[in-house]
Amino acid sequence: MTLQIESFQEYKKVYKESVEKPEKFWAAQARTFTWMKKWDKVLEWNFKKPDIKWFIGGKLNITENCLDRHLKSRGKQTALIWEPNDPSRPYQSYTYQELYEEVCRFANALKSNGIKKGDRVCFYMPMVPELAIGILACARIGAIHSVVFAGFSANALADRIKDASCKMVVCSDYNSRGAKNIPVKEIVDEALNQGCKSVETVIVHKNTGGAVKMKKNRDKWWHDVLKGQKKECKPAKMDSEDILFILYTSGSTGTPKGVVHTCGGYMVYTCFTFKNVFQYKKGDVYWCTADIGWITGHSYIVYGPLLAGATTIMFEGVPTYPDPGRFWHVCEKHRVNQFYTAPTAIRALMAQGDQWPGHYDLSSIKVLGSVGEPINSEAWHWYDEKIGKGKSPIVDTWWQTETGGILISPLPGLHKLKPCYAQLPMPGIQPCLVDAEGKEIKKKEAEGLLCIKFPWPSMIRTTYGDHERCRQVYFSTFENLYFTGDGARRDKDGHYRIIGRVDDVINVSGHRIGTAEVENAINEHAQVIESAVVGFPHDIKGQGIYAYIITDGPVADKEVFKKEVNAVVTEVIGPIAKPDRIQIVAGLPKTRSGKIMRRILRKVAAGEADQIGDVSTLLNPEVVDSLKEGQKEAL
Ligand code: WT7
Repeated sequence: MTLQIESFQEYKKVYKESVEKPEKFWAAQARTFTWMKKWDKVLEWNFKKPDIKWFIGGKLNITENCLDRHLKSRGKQTALIWEPNDPSRPYQSYTYQELYEEVCRFANALKSNGIKKGDRVCFYMPMVPELAIGILACARIGAIHSVVFAGFSANALADRIKDASCKMVVCSDYNSRGAKNIPVKEIVDEALNQGCKSVETVIVHKNTGGAVKMKKNRDKWWHDVLKGQKKECKPAKMDSEDILFILYTSGSTGTPKGVVHTCGGYMVYTCFTFKNVFQYKKGDVYWCTADIGWITGHSYIVYGPLLAGATTIMFEGVPTYPDPGRFWHVCEKHRVNQFYTAPTAIRALMAQGDQWPGHYDLSSIKVLGSVGEPINSEAWHWYDEKIGKGKSPIVDTWWQTETGGILISPLPGLHKLKPCYAQLPMPGIQPCLVDAEGKEIKKKEAEGLLCIKFPWPSMIRTTYGDHERCRQVYFSTFENLYFTGDGARRDKDGHYRIIGRVDDVINVSGHRIGTAEVENAINEHAQVIESAVVGFPHDIKGQGIYAYIITDGPVADKEVFKKEVNAVVTEVIGPIAKPDRIQIVAGLPKTRSGKIMRRILRKVAAGEADQIGDVSTLLNPEVVDSLKEGQKEAL
């Protein structure tokens, strides 16, 4: 069984061992899994190229470890509970035996539809059990899944399908989220009309049963492809370093990149961190409210919990539907023991008043988790008092799509908590702070750029189809270090507090949005000449999107213009990237070499223009005053 650390003393000891002898430590963890062939060598790495390999020569199938391995001991135990958007509908649950059978049936259906090892399959679906079943079925036969969050637009979906040249798309008819009903299949059709030549088949899961158009010879129903499929499917023999999945994420520049995770290391690390960060005990019911369209859902709804033999909840809805008590109702109903959500949700629910959690019995909760963005002190204390009743430790987990699993987090009940700090590294993780020149800051109490010195099993291997980009973004800023893009502070005891992104990435409600992407979208509006996008503090979302726009001639109706800009951003990226505020400007502050001074734009957007300081070196210092003026009237 995977090691579960039980005291702070043990943590310190294990951490020390894991850093002194990392290969020995991870080999011991890896041995607790089922391998078809044992690895020959634990690790080879080179951060310059980068070239990172774990459990070299090992053969395995992650689904054999998520499912088959548990059948004897917990075949009848619930593996997955699905809670629908509409609370009046019954929830569904699958035992490990049932989930195993469903995965095998769909794996066989994939094979019957021409999917082979190494093929890419795109999933564009709401939070229904078929999404979890679908990705596990891919992993079963060695196909690579690429899940695209169902809130992205047809355009964004098409880009991702093309980048990975997916052979198949799996979707649903509609997505019911809160009071909304989103025509998912129609969006897929629209995406496929944008030249996604690689797609041969579309499999449509009937979710709401609403009307959809099916294209002959291309589109098939989920329930039809399953007909006659066997409940058994031999797991494909995968190399440790074969690709398990691709997941797209935004960066400071260019289009989203496909982060690649591989089979062996990802399996070992997600299981290990799940068991330790949540202190999951047999029989517990665990709920992570994330969407499987993001890494949190991959690692801590599906893979981590199932690898650990846990009972994991999948929730289709939103925190405020039908009312702001929904999360707490679900916690009471399923007697949730570990609850994992994002600060933005906590803040949104906190704003609705204490009466909502007050209506429900939350006594089953043992551990609370937070992820995606820094948690502010007010939200931390509300979460602690109103949800945890002061008795459930909060784990503020820091990690990224690229890291595959949690890297810095307290261990609940073991670490003495320090509010708003992600605190200490997981075993095997060697963080450091560097200054702008890339020099490591050795002093304990310090602030700097957060980097990781040594590889860990679930780290990014490449960006799909563009290895140079992976090198450039993560490994070229500082020699021999993985650069996270985050700034952090470290206290005298070595505890880390994550401050936030230091690059041109905005964290909106825990979702990563690249400023360049939003600018490109805004620039598609016919009247826009140039735009610059920055983040600004937002009470609920953490950060909001603030767009400065130079228009061709005066804007006749500002409200109409704002609607049009929102519409174009929604079309190009999706509603999550809509600017919260728009300021029409005559010019943007630029350096003499023509670079936009985003620092100034951030200060103006935050209403902190008094902190801008000297602007005399700008090419056009005169614009700053007009920017400050205009900020008050931003749309
Ligand atoms: C970025 C990664 C990893 C799951 C969800 C987001 C920010 C993440 C925390 C935290 C402060 C956090 C960082 C990071 N972030 N967790 N506990 N405290 N900031 O994944 O979309 O890849 O975004 O989210 O800025 O770099 P992601």
